[in-house]
Amino acid sequence: MTQTESLVSHFECYDCGATYNLEHTEFPCPECGGILDPKYDYDDIDVSREEVESRSGSMWKYRELLPILDTDDIVSMGEGNTPIVDCPELAEEMGVARVAIKDEGQNPTNTFKDRGASASISGASQQNIAEVAIPSAGNAGQAASAYTARAGIDCHVVLNYQSNDIQKTMVEAHGADLHLVDGKLDKAGGAFGELRDEHGWYTVATFQTPFRHEGKKTMGLEIFEQFDWDGPDEIFYPTGGGVGLIGIWKAYQELAKLGWLEDETPPSLHVAQSSGCAPVVEAIEDHREEHDAWECPESIGRGIEVPDPGASPWMLEAVYETGGTGVAVSDDEALEGALASARHAGVEMCVEPGAALAAAMQMAEEGKLDEDDEVLIINTGAGNKATGALSYAIE
Ligand SMILES: Cc1ncc(COP(=O)(O)O)c(C=O)c1O
Ligand SMILES: [Zn+2]
Repeated sequence: MTQTESLVSHFECYDCGATYNLEHTEFPCPECGGILDPKYDYDDIDVSREEVESRSGSMWKYRELLPILDTDDIVSMGEGNTPIVDCPELAEEMGVARVAIKDEGQNPTNTFKDRGASASISGASQQNIAEVAIPSAGNAGQAASAYTARAGIDCHVVLNYQSNDIQKTMVEAHGADLHLVDGKLDKAGGAFGELRDEHGWYTVATFQTPFRHEGKKTMGLEIFEQFDWDGPDEIFYPTGGGVGLIGIWKAYQELAKLGWLEDETPPSLHVAQSSGCAPVVEAIEDHREEHDAWECPESIGRGIEVPDPGASPWMLEAVYETGGTGVAVSDDEALEGALASARHAGVEMCVEPGAALAAAMQMAEEGKLDEDDEVLIINTGAGNKATGALSYAIE
């Protein structure tokens, strides 16, 4: 065993505060059904931010702040370490000092889901699990299939028929067991719950496993490092279950605790959703602490078509504590956003991040961004995931 030097100490329930040791495999919290969150002994850190900067490679350069103890359990394909791409034309159009894109499309399966998959499958390996399961709109299932294939762990993926051909084909290409179910993510989630209970599957679903959002946290750690430990002023995130948003929020809080930030003002975290499914945006507009489930979700951005996101209190905490907002855009506007990125910056985006760029453009048009603002858009997935939808938008 080679130690990773991880500072992880235990899991703690975000909702009720119950604590569990790292061998605990019953997710979510058996006491209250809440989200289990890895906790760390930050006082014991003996690496400097300069030393972390000098490390190259994957998201595992932040191994002290990830919950894996033995390097043999790390399942990695070089995920993370994605570039910040400057977009001066977009900055000029939006009348702000800088627009940049964090290009998560450059991950192994072309989405930011690889970070969560790397961490959650490494977690499964640490917990000696031989079989995992995940419900997904498509991208997370594809990522989990890739990482389980690499780890030699069996994987069951529950998708609905609307997932695209790339996602369905690659799940099976990796040798995972694909279950296609009727209905949208909520129904797929219900079908998943039944299958999981019937087979006793270990879940790597959104905010079930405590390992997955830790992987997404590395996106935030990288952003702060790439912005010279300061951070941009505004971050626009295409929000479904909120794993990445909460990951960035947690990264900020950890770096603040470590004293690694040049400026302790957090970037404003803005939730971008589709006007066809905007439960979190609606909650922000009403200044609520929790969302109401969205009745009839309808968006072609399937990753953000999440009508009942269980982690909304945590997402709303991130938005309110950072002075962020919520913006809903139509599918057409999201497609225009994706095309604006492709045409003005060369960066290929699928529909969901297109919504994030469209939300930023909308706020700029409404005069809600300052001329000295540095704006970061999270490109959660590459354009090749959405060529069907994009082709309709090209005139
Ligand atoms: C491309 C893309 N963007 C954004 C999201 C939303 O992710 P999160 O759960 O972090 O809100 C997803 C989730 O499926 C996705 O596939
Ligand atoms: Zn609990």
